[in-house]
Amino acid sequence: MSLVRVVHLSDPHFGTIHMGVGDGLLNTLREIEPALILLTGDITQRARADQFKAAKHFIDQIGSAAVIAVPGNHDISLGNIYERIFHPYKGYENIFKQKLDQNIILKDLCITCLNSTSRWRHIQGEFQYSYLEEQFQENYSNCKVRIAAFHHPMDCAKYIDDKNLLKGRDSAIALFDRHNVDMIVGGHIHDPYVNLSSARYPHIRRKIILSVAGTCMSSRTRAGAPNSFNLIDVNTDFIPKITLTRFDMDSTFHFKPKEIHYFSRDSTLSWNRDSSLIVST
Ligand SMILES: [Fe+2]
Ligand SMILES: [Fe+2]
Repeated sequence: MSLVRVVHLSDPHFGTIHMGVGDGLLNTLREIEPALILLTGDITQRARADQFKAAKHFIDQIGSAAVIAVPGNHDISLGNIYERIFHPYKGYENIFKQKLDQNIILKDLCITCLNSTSRWRHIQGEFQYSYLEEQFQENYSNCKVRIAAFHHPMDCAKYIDDKNLLKGRDSAIALFDRHNVDMIVGGHIHDPYVNLSSARYPHIRRKIILSVAGTCMSSRTRAGAPNSFNLIDVNTDFIPKITLTRFDMDSTFHFKPKEIHYFSRDSTLSWNRDSSLIVST
């Protein structure tokens, strides 16, 4: 069986982290031993150098897993207008030494990391259509499963969060569909959610898995949504399968499985939910 294990973290907002949460998360990550940790933005609270350094210090303690990050709206300086306009990703680039967008290949899995933020926007995210097309120019024909990762969400559980969804999402999802993206992951709203695209985008050809991770460490949690992260197990065998396990933090700073969602891909490259499980505590 060809299995790739990815941990999806989002929105740590370094600068707003309660004591004990980081250690609890580190312990769980070391037990899971993922091949990759995917961090979908709002790494810092105010894009300050000390907050990026704290993020780097945390990442350095994780272990051998590769860490790939995309920026969130909080990772662009808000108050320093000069920096915002001329060097919006300076803090991110100083720490991560990575391109803002890139394709990561892990066995038969391709993860397309995208930058949905803009120096001209404080909160909402958007892609230029030409930018998206450019990111999918390279042909990764060996990839059997493809994930797209960016900060702003494509779907949400609560109507109040509709205003925080990616602007231009109808055009974007059509492009993702055309390029056979299997799963789209993001964050931003601190309210974890997973569903098939058919619920919000019934017009596209295939069903894509849409997942939003909660905040993994920040005290900026929402009611009913404690700190959490998602473990994404991708099986790229003849019938590709994805198992998404959400780990929630409890009052003793332990992260434990709370929900498990099983998906498989059919012969039309469309995804279906096989089952879901709420883990009783
Ligand atoms: Fe956030
Ligand atoms: Fe955000």
